[in-house]
Parts: sequence; C-alpha cells; structure tokens
Amino acid sequence: MQTYLAHPTNRNSTPNSTHTAVDIVLDTAYQGISDRQWQKLFIKARASGVEQFIADLFAGKHINNSEDRPALHSALRNLTKTPVFIDGKDVMPAVSAVWQRIEALCNKWVGVTDVIHIGIGGSDFGPRLAIEALAYVPGIDSRGMRMHFLANIDTAELARILARAQPHSTRVIIVSKSFTTLETTMNATAVVNWLKEHNCTTGQIARSLFAVTANIPAAQAFGVLEDHIFPFWDWVGGRYSVWSAVGLPIALQYGFDTFKDFLAGAEAIDLHFKNAPLEENLPVIMALSLLFQQEQHKIKAHAAIPYADALDWFPKWLQQLDMESNGKSIDRDGKPVKHSSPVVFGSAGSNAQHSYFQLLHQGTEIIPIDFIAVREPMSDRPEAIAHHRILLSNCLAQAQALAHGRDATNPNDVYPGNRPSNLLLLPKLNAFYLGALLALYENRAATLGALWNINSFDQPGVEYGKILAKPIEKALASDATNIHASVEIDAVTAARINFLNSKI
Ligand code: F6P
Repeated sequence: MQTYLAHPTNRNSTPNSTHTAVDIVLDTAYQGISDRQWQKLFIKARASGVEQFIADLFAGKHINNSEDRPALHSALRNLTKTPVFIDGKDVMPAVSAVWQRIEALCNKWVGVTDVIHIGIGGSDFGPRLAIEALAYVPGIDSRGMRMHFLANIDTAELARILARAQPHSTRVIIVSKSFTTLETTMNATAVVNWLKEHNCTTGQIARSLFAVTANIPAAQAFGVLEDHIFPFWDWVGGRYSVWSAVGLPIALQYGFDTFKDFLAGAEAIDLHFKNAPLEENLPVIMALSLLFQQEQHKIKAHAAIPYADALDWFPKWLQQLDMESNGKSIDRDGKPVKHSSPVVFGSAGSNAQHSYFQLLHQGTEIIPIDFIAVREPMSDRPEAIAHHRILLSNCLAQAQALAHGRDATNPNDVYPGNRPSNLLLLPKLNAFYLGALLALYENRAATLGALWNINSFDQPGVEYGKILAKPIEKALASDATNIHASVEIDAVTAARINFLNSKI
C-alpha cells in the first residue's frame, strides 16, 4: 500500500517537508507528493505565470480583469507605507488617513455598552472571526463592549440582538462596500427604528450611526454624518476587506495597537509571498498541494480543521474567500476551466472528529485537509497544558491515521488511508498570527486563481438569485394564490408561492 509520506518506503523517516514563514510552519509530509512531483509542480507554477501574477498583484495591475481594477487589499496592511500606485496615484496617504481616524475614534468612545455591526458576507465574516478569536487570547486588553454582528435578513437575529442591547449606549456600524445590499440596508433601518422606539432623539441617533463603505453618497443619504463615514475603495474586494475600516470593531474592542498587530501579521505574510522563491513560498506550496490532489485524485472537497476553538469561525470565512473567489467554470478569457475551487468546509477540532471525520476516514471521497494547530494553549486555566496536549495529540493522530490507514480482517475496521493533509502550526494565536493566517489563505486563493487562470476577484454568480428574488417577493406580498408560471417565475416556484400564500 502506498502511504502519504514523502518517503513511502520508510515509515520512520522524517521527510524534509517543512517550510517556515513568519514562524508559521507548514508540513506537507502527508501530501504523498514525491520530490520529483514537487519539482514538476513548481515547473507548472512557473509556466502558469505565478511569479509574474504575484508581482502584478502587488504592483496594482488591473488583475481583476472583468471589473478592470486592481486587487490591492495588501495596501491596507502596508504599515511601512511604501508607496502603492494605482494608475499612477499613491493610495497610501488615503489608507493612512483612515488609520488615523480609526485610532482617533478608539480614543473617543466612552460609555458605550453595545456595538451593532451590520453587514453581510465579506462585511461580516472577517471582523466577526477576529472579534471571536481574539476574545480567547489570555489577558487581551478588551474594552468589554458587547459586540453584536447582524447579518441575516431573518429578524430572529435582529430580535436576539435588540433584546440584549441598551439603546441609549449603543453604537451602530453599517458596513457595506456597495451600500445597496438589501439585508444590510433593511437591518440598518430596523435598528434605527428600534432606537426611535426607545426615544433616542434625531441627534442621538446621528451620533450613534457610523458607516464603512465605498459608496459615501449612499451612506450620507441614509443619514450617516460625513465624519462618521469611513471610506474604502473599489480596489478592495468585499471578502478581502477586513484590513480596511471594515475591521473597525477589532480596533474599538481591543485597541488600535492590536488592530495594527493584526495588519502587521498579514503584511509579514505578504512580504514573504512577494519575495520568497516558489519552492519556499507557503501560499504557493499550499496551493500546489491542492492542485496536485485535484489532478491526481479528482478531489471535489477540501476541509480546514483548526484545532483551536478560537478559530471556529475561520472555515466560514474561508468558504467565502475560496468559493466566492474561485468557484467558477470559466477562466479569465471566458473559456471552460478544468479545475476550480473544491467545496470548502470545516469546523474546530476536536469537535469536528465527533461529526464528519467518519466520512474523512472511511467515506468514498478523498478530501484533503488542512490541520491548523497552535503550539501554545489559549487559556491560563490550571488544566490548560494537559488539555492542550490532548488537543494536539488528537490533531497529529488524525493526520497519521488518515495518511496510513489500517488493515483489518473485519472490513468495518479497515481504514483505506492515503488521505492527504497539511499541518499548519502557529506558534501562538494572537492578533499578529491571526492576521498572518488569513493572509496566508488569501494569498493561497490568489495563487490557485493564477494556476487555474481564474479571476479570483469578481463574483458574478451571486447576482442572478438576487434578481429573481424581486418578482417572487412581489408575488408573496400580493397574497395571491393563483400565481401562474411566467418568464420570471417558473411553475415549481409559482406553486410554492401559492402554497405559502394560502392561509391553510
Ligand atoms: O454575496 C455577494 C457580496 O457582494 C459579497 O461579495 C460581499 O462580501 C457581500 O455581498 C456584501 O456586500 P456589501 O459589502 O456591498 O454589502
């Protein structure tokens, strides 16, 4: 049986499969990729123009070709302020002006009990993940405000938040790149109504409302004061926007220095991604290992399992990053692609072991896994060392079991093995390493896009459903039970509307 070791003949060898960047170790030993296969992968990466792509990405070239603009989220974490030019204009003065405003706001907020952050997709996942993850950092300096994230149009989420928040000491941040997203604008209106219901005056409401957007006129039209609007720009994709003022909650809750640490971790990975040769480049190696498994084993899914409860939101953030960026059937030139993003899923280990690991070990699909582990425990409980040892031993054991499998006479007890995985080991989990981790995966997504020749920075596939929802909503609002199939509504949906509208 072939096993997923770099040197399959020797189970006891320690293959040279580790790579380090920014003190983060990537171990690809269980990918089952031989040295010769790695060489071929790097040849392929060069032939696909990955090196030129990386240079173009950081140089502000219009790599988002369908929307004719750059993807320069890296400028948002360019703490050294090295000039970054878009069409001849340095964007860094505008970026650092926003940093100054964020810092000033952190120092200004007093007596705030609740923050309601309203946004969805890329305007939600990044800050939500960071707020959750950093809350686990032992001894982190937190202002202790209740941070509420309101994304869903489902009023259940709204009601739950409003039941907990204190209206007169609440601040509201409306986060939307476009400021046209229905969920966000309707939820923002609902929260303003709630403030009014609690007798907040027009002046109080205006003082409570903040916006983060690339559409300043729309935020103003909504009633947000000009100096409460934090801009970001069309060259920042929504799912890449946590580094902008979209990450404001991080600074407000944990302080501007912590926000800067978060940016610094990402900047460190960017510098590595930009400068390291492909053979030592972590995002590139991670991308190539996934490509290898696609080409060799036709894998359809990929799991990211952080063995850190703090990172439970990480797979959800990653799903949007990977699948919205690279879940496409055509390449940059409109031609069909052979490969694009696999389905991405995951959740914190060891919980995940008690859920879908059965399938990972014995199911018919091979699903490559990224195990993410943190060397230091994230608690100062007396039990922390012992528990953390068990957490890590589970992580290592799962990877080994998946790689080697196990023979048995009873077919039920057979583990086929040959199931590839990476191990990503962070020295600790704080704002710096969280920033680094997210930037690693952002740069992996960009590299995969380059390898597949996909534009990773647009998302045309999210539009059609929104268009169809409009006539359906109108039909639901009509209460009619005799809707017929039409150009906009087919027979199945018409029947469903009639059923929903019937009072029975
Ligand atoms: O789901 C589509 C999408 O456009 C995402 O790309 C984006 O993160 C989200 O909606 C929210 O968009 P906005 O920030 O413009 O409200």
